[in-house]
Amino acid sequence: MTTENTSHEPIDRFGGLLEGKVAVITGVGAAETIGAVTAAVFVKEGAQVLAADISGAQKETALALGPGVVPFQVDITREEEVEAMFARAVEVFGRVDILVNVAGNPGGRRGDEITVEEYQSLTSVHLLGTVLTNKHAVRVMTPNGGGAIVNFSSAASFNTDKLISTAYAAAKAGINSLTKSNAVHHGPQNIRVNAVAPGFTMSKKNRGLPPAIEESLSNKAALARPGTPEEQAHVAAFLASDRASFVTGVVVPVDGGWTAKLA
Ligand SMILES: NC(=O)c1ccc[n+]([C@@H]2O[C@H](COP(=O)([O-])OP(=O)(O)OC[C@H]3O[C@@H](n4cnc5c(N)ncnc54)[C@H](O)[C@@H]3O)[C@@H](O)[C@H]2O)c1
Repeated sequence: MTTENTSHEPIDRFGGLLEGKVAVITGVGAAETIGAVTAAVFVKEGAQVLAADISGAQKETALALGPGVVPFQVDITREEEVEAMFARAVEVFGRVDILVNVAGNPGGRRGDEITVEEYQSLTSVHLLGTVLTNKHAVRVMTPNGGGAIVNFSSAASFNTDKLISTAYAAAKAGINSLTKSNAVHHGPQNIRVNAVAPGFTMSKKNRGLPPAIEESLSNKAALARPGTPEEQAHVAAFLASDRASFVTGVVVPVDGGWTAKLA
């Protein structure tokens, strides 16, 4: 048996959790974003992936992951682009089994500082983006007998902290609500809808934070460390997989125990 990679399969594989599945993943920016790492984990679990982002960085990410990954530029707040994203996935791979909606944008302001622009930007990407991606995922999954959706929320959706923006927390709480509503509405179509709620995670954007802030956020977790993008991606892969076939309408904290604490 040769170890040479002569097929379109990556060499290093995990357990085949997503063997034969087709996934659309948004927020697949540069290396070390949670979305890019999720795409890599999905490929290692056997999925084919349409890797989508607004930034353009999805092209390099897709190239690095091999021919089972096709890039797509999308702004998830624009319905025609979201519709085109799913159409492209069907054109390339024949169907869509999974949506992982990782795309998000950070905010920094508290209640007495919030601007209308920041509020609109945060609610647009998180709420409208979730509405549109979930809507068109359901539309392409239904004729194929169902599928699985995983949205990305945040530990900030449950409780908050002085370091977390007011409107960001509210928008992520809205994602929890949309996740449960869509699970209830589309369960009869055999579509499961769940969410991952990360705690402080050492993705690309959090590298280079001032050391005092990094330490403070790391120590929020009972495990007293940041999570890794891989730790988020593995939970998303489980929720998207057939092993979670009776799991729908839940928001899973992947936060090292942050939300279990009183403060
Ligand atoms: N990193 C953390 O500590 C943490 C904690 C809680 C929740 N989260 C959530 O996890 C997700 C990923 O986090 P990350 O740290 O990798 O974030 P990130 O900002 O590095 O990546 C987000 C990606 O979404 C893309 N994006 C933004 N707006 C978009 C749009 N309109 N259409 C398409 N793509 C768009 C960006 O280009 C970027 O590639 C986000 O939803 C974030 O809110 C992250």
